[in-house]
Amino acid sequence: MQFKIQKGEGLKGEITIPGDKSISHRAIMLASLADGKSEISGFLEGEDCLATIEVFQKMGVIISRRNGKFLVEGKGLKGLKDPASHLDFRNSGTSVRLCSGVLATQEFSSTLIGDSSLSSRPMLRITEPLGLMGANISSTEAGTLPLRIEPVNSLEAIKYSLPVASAQVKSCLLFAGLYSNGITEIEEKITTRDHTEKMFEQFDIPINISRSKGKKLIKLDPVEGFNPKNLNICGDFSSASFFILAALITPNSELLLKNVGVNPTRTGFLHALRHMGANITLQNETDSYEPTADILVKTSELKGIVLNTNLVANMIDEMPAFFIAASLATGTTKVKEAKELRTKESDRLQAMSEVLDSFGVQFQLEADGIVIKGIGKGGTLKASTVNSHGDHRIAMAASIASLRSGGETTVLDCLNVSTSFPNFIDVCQEVGINIEKI
Ligand code: S3P
Repeated sequence: MQFKIQKGEGLKGEITIPGDKSISHRAIMLASLADGKSEISGFLEGEDCLATIEVFQKMGVIISRRNGKFLVEGKGLKGLKDPASHLDFRNSGTSVRLCSGVLATQEFSSTLIGDSSLSSRPMLRITEPLGLMGANISSTEAGTLPLRIEPVNSLEAIKYSLPVASAQVKSCLLFAGLYSNGITEIEEKITTRDHTEKMFEQFDIPINISRSKGKKLIKLDPVEGFNPKNLNICGDFSSASFFILAALITPNSELLLKNVGVNPTRTGFLHALRHMGANITLQNETDSYEPTADILVKTSELKGIVLNTNLVANMIDEMPAFFIAASLATGTTKVKEAKELRTKESDRLQAMSEVLDSFGVQFQLEADGIVIKGIGKGGTLKASTVNSHGDHRIAMAASIASLRSGGETTVLDCLNVSTSFPNFIDVCQEVGINIEKI
């Protein structure tokens, strides 16, 4: 599938962004493991989260959709059944890594597979610590899918300092920790998204969080079981980022994004953009179990910055959008310590450098980052054909960049936009973006 986008002007409107992908995965997982029925509203019906649903359905959990809500009949921590065949996680790194933590503790074997992109992504980051807990889990020699998990009598809790800033690794170990003997202790030197911790608290699972000398320490006792919960999931900040970018870079624009998750472990992009001079204000801020706000964005003149490396982990999924903001700013933007971008749905440093090249932007690609020379106020990107490498976030970032091109741009290989933002085209059209899929 390809997107064709025309140069843009005057984007206006109030929009609702679909549910948060990270929170949706965790909600299905915990609701499936709870003792009883949970109802989830605002769930993201994107392909990645549907893959998580299918995996739990295959293990005997009844999950049904009623009036836009998902009803999950939790089986309890020990109630999953042998899926009897491969579990297919398709394109979803979050599903496969988080679910491995649960599967490593079950009394049945499992084989975890995915699509070609997921099958090239690193899994040693979870198989190694799960192995330290005593799990019987193996990957290919290259440390990739398929993963094979065999049952073991029990898992021992470990103390683990995360070698990579990864919420997926942290969450995998927290899920395994629910079943392990002893107290699981995880240390984070760089804070990553804390949706698992917040979701455990929502389900009244005791979890102890402390901070010392700039590090975060999480302690978790195993539990026998926990009660179901009804949950409402907010809009996904990462999906919102494309419309924040759109309003900032398109002349005469003003967009209000309603009920978006603004958990501080996710909003590095806002801080970076404000540092560049972006006009973004938060309204109607709430703090239920996840902080939310309406985000008002107006066209802004941006200036290049040296990105604070402390922000990288908190805006890792927004980097493709950030690179486009940098390309349109006045001056140079430098990004370092971002080599994790090479392990995402595509090698996002490489893929984005190719996108920037197609748009005629000057840059210097480095092993762990990029230096981008912005085209400055009123500058125009070269309209062209852009390869998204089948990566949803590259496809959406390139589509939005096209608003500042000289004419029509084609973005190739856009099918995977449906993994995180199934109605992207509709929301684009709602705010006045001239985009069509062919
Ligand atoms: C996610 C964590 C991040 C992020 C991914 C979703 C999560 O990955 O890139 O899209 O839901 O935990 P890492 O934690 O591996 O960086």
